[in-house]
Amino acid sequence: MNVRLGDVAPDFKADTTQGSISFHDWLGDSWGVLFSHPKDFTPVCTTELGYVAKIKPEFDRRNVKVIGLSVDSVDSHEKWETDIAETQGTAVNFPMIGDPDRTVSNLYDMIHPNASDTMTVRSVFIIGPDKKIKLTLTYPASTGRNFDEILRVIDSLQLTAKFKVATPANWENGGDVIIGAVVTDEEAKKLFPQGWKTVKPYLRVLAQPTQ
Ligand code: BEZ
Repeated sequence: MNVRLGDVAPDFKADTTQGSISFHDWLGDSWGVLFSHPKDFTPVCTTELGYVAKIKPEFDRRNVKVIGLSVDSVDSHEKWETDIAETQGTAVNFPMIGDPDRTVSNLYDMIHPNASDTMTVRSVFIIGPDKKIKLTLTYPASTGRNFDEILRVIDSLQLTAKFKVATPANWENGGDVIIGAVVTDEEAKKLFPQGWKTVKPYLRVLAQPTQ
């Protein structure tokens, strides 16, 4: 199944390293990051899982729940976690879904047969509190992801959910933002009385709003 931006994230029940979950219930009112890795006991995946564990407080601070997945079993995940703690210096502190029957992998189109028949690709889905898909990413097995970029996108998503703004290329939290293209100057005057800089009529820049 193709999962696209704006779709409701498919719901499922699954076994994880922290017990059985119903995905939507587990998300509750939080944002969510669901990400797959190709295989347990592999090098790049080991570094990824360790890094996510290290920056988990950053996800918590943003009210984001993180959950991993591969087609390996929960039992295998649990054994691998010992290696991750030993080699990456942080114990895995978020649940990992065991998906040997590929229920979730198929629901989220995480197996790309022309890349591999047997392993999930490196997928990332960011899910909003409305349970809708806000971002999808797909990386190959050979390239570890930049999870700081995932945090950056979450900052942008949370800001743009609150204000009628968009964030420019390489924006970081605190940087200047752009007034959304659908906002007229009349509306902008009410929304942003502090003013903005018009670079072009379609490119209006302002300091990041804070309230
Ligand atoms: C890795 O994590 O290093 C990896 C996993 C599956 C295939 C290739 C590399």
